[in-house]
Amino acid sequence: MNAPAVRFYDAHPGPADLRAEVLGGLDAEVRAIPPKFFYDERGSALFDRICDLPEYYQTRTEIGILRRALPDIARLVGPESVLIELGSGASRKVRLLLEELRPIGYVGVDISKEFLLSATRRLARDYPWLDVHAACVDFSTGLAIPSCSDAARKVAFFPGSSIGNFDPDDALTLLRDIGELVGVGGQLLIGVDLKKPVEILNAAYNDAAGVTAEFNRNLLWRIRDELDSDIDPDSFDHYAFYNPPHNRIEMHLVSRVAQVVSVEDRRFRFERGDAIHTENSYKYGVADFTALAVRGGFAPQAVWTDDAQLFSVHLLLQRG
Ligand code: AVI
Repeated sequence: MNAPAVRFYDAHPGPADLRAEVLGGLDAEVRAIPPKFFYDERGSALFDRICDLPEYYQTRTEIGILRRALPDIARLVGPESVLIELGSGASRKVRLLLEELRPIGYVGVDISKEFLLSATRRLARDYPWLDVHAACVDFSTGLAIPSCSDAARKVAFFPGSSIGNFDPDDALTLLRDIGELVGVGGQLLIGVDLKKPVEILNAAYNDAAGVTAEFNRNLLWRIRDELDSDIDPDSFDHYAFYNPPHNRIEMHLVSRVAQVVSVEDRRFRFERGDAIHTENSYKYGVADFTALAVRGGFAPQAVWTDDAQLFSVHLLLQRG
């Protein structure tokens, strides 16, 4: 039997984006490359493994919150919606929602094309009653998704605290973009990682099995494989720590040796200990995040947390 069709919209950032952002990022006084470039097929698979690590409490905690909140979510969202999952990845959490909400349509949005296509094809196969779309989009640069334009009542689902990977100003812009995408009366269900003791945070980003280190270094493998570069990923160490004044985990790649790295026609000198900043992961209080969402044009409808207050899930209404 043929697999049900997934309608696919491709605005995938091409090699030019990677080249420009890597060269610009290595040229800057404080070297930095945006975390969106972690997510090729290998990076998405590594992130999936992170989600199952004992130290990475976020995924299982959010799933527990969603399971308990499902009846309330279904009541507050209602039937006949179109569910738009941002950063859909392996789309595991959304299955809970699909089964409870029974929306008429699903749009998976992700930057990692192969991963997105296989996840949405699995959904289309498992939920034949659902109209499934996939949009390969870098939503840090805007959220124009044609398959959403004529949809009925839209509900964005943005799980996993991916909002934490945006600096607060960019997070505000993204919330406003999501507001525009769902329209007045549309909703946003969003997972947000909470502030907590620093030991729990540091352990979550420095797992004993070294999967987060490999995920971080995947950025360098992409530079080596997709650009013209001699960079040796194993000559950089993973370094992650909580920065309390900024309420964020920072991830860096630190050169183990003094070296010169070539990328395309450029050469970059690293002393031993020189770093490339690769990710921030901001942590919020429930009230801080609610205030940000209100500035972004949403009204809070409900918020759920786990008993240990590790993670929160917010339901927000676009109030125009
Ligand atoms: C996707 N994002 C919310 C993850 C986070 O926790 O910031 C990415 C990640 N980075 C290291 N581990 C997981």
